[in-house]
Amino acid sequence: MENISYDKTGKIDLNGIYNNDDPVPYFSTLSKLGYRIPEEGKPIFERLIAARREAHEARETKLIDLGCSYGVNAALLKHGMEMDDLYRLYGEDAPHETALVARDRALFAEPTDRHLEIVGIDPADKAVAYAVETGLIDAAVAANLEKADPERDDAAAIAGADLIISTGCIGYVTQASLARLIEAAEPGRPWMAHFVLRMFPFAPIEEMLAEHGYVTEKLDGVFPQRRFASPEEQAHVLDNLDRLGLDPTGLEASGWYYAELHVSRPPADAGLPLDTLVEAGERAPVHA
Ligand SMILES: C[S@@+](CC[C@H](N)C(=O)[O-])C[C@H]1O[C@@H](n2cnc3c(N)ncnc32)[C@H](O)[C@@H]1O
Repeated sequence: MENISYDKTGKIDLNGIYNNDDPVPYFSTLSKLGYRIPEEGKPIFERLIAARREAHEARETKLIDLGCSYGVNAALLKHGMEMDDLYRLYGEDAPHETALVARDRALFAEPTDRHLEIVGIDPADKAVAYAVETGLIDAAVAANLEKADPERDDAAAIAGADLIISTGCIGYVTQASLARLIEAAEPGRPWMAHFVLRMFPFAPIEEMLAEHGYVTEKLDGVFPQRRFASPEEQAHVLDNLDRLGLDPTGLEASGWYYAELHVSRPPADAGLPLDTLVEAGERAPVHA
């Protein structure tokens, strides 16, 4: 990759690909880095959606995707796609502008899970507008909940949520956004599932969630997120992990970021342990 700069956490600065008129720069850049955490999350999110439906005896499910970008998790969970499909659809030879929008509106017109309503939240207003316009997601909140409470209409879009998920987003967001989401989701008591890079401690979020009556479990094992973009990025991350006392052997030392899965539920819903719930799914995580 050319002209790499780094953010304050030592990651490459990807702001240039997060908010363009179409998803091509996003997917064509991340495909080069092997970005795959939404794919890793897919079978687990599907299990959680099924378990939530069972537990609440309700098929209609409202899922909030925090840091949704162009509706990446929606493409996988609501429209039956894989990351490889998205990388193919949004390669550098993808159609342009109105032709791309027209193709995608046709592509996403018939969701594979029509009972799953997805509300995407992301300050990248052009990205979420694309996701709504093409039918990838049902509604969007283009806001930064780190900084302020949601506006009235945005809070209405979040109200009654059943699940809140994120991939590749914690680090940009903290417990501040999640506390605002819990409040806006009332009367819902949404389950949460966040894939979090090992270098971002989850403890402050877990403490806030406990204050709101949530029980958090971390799934055993780790999930590959993407390759490092440069030896410098890897060195920054190894420094971060060293400061946290985490051993990168066989993981980040081998050239990839790794994430962990944290699932939080109200105690009344947390009877079935997370590992049992996930084992019923198709794929197990990589064990370090
Ligand atoms: C690595 S991308 C992940 C996108 C998507 N979840 C995926 O896995 O492909 C990080 C996303 O977090 C978003 N983001 C940054 N700051 C945010 C904030 N304060 N609240 C919500 N999303 C934020 C970015 O705009 C970007 O879309």
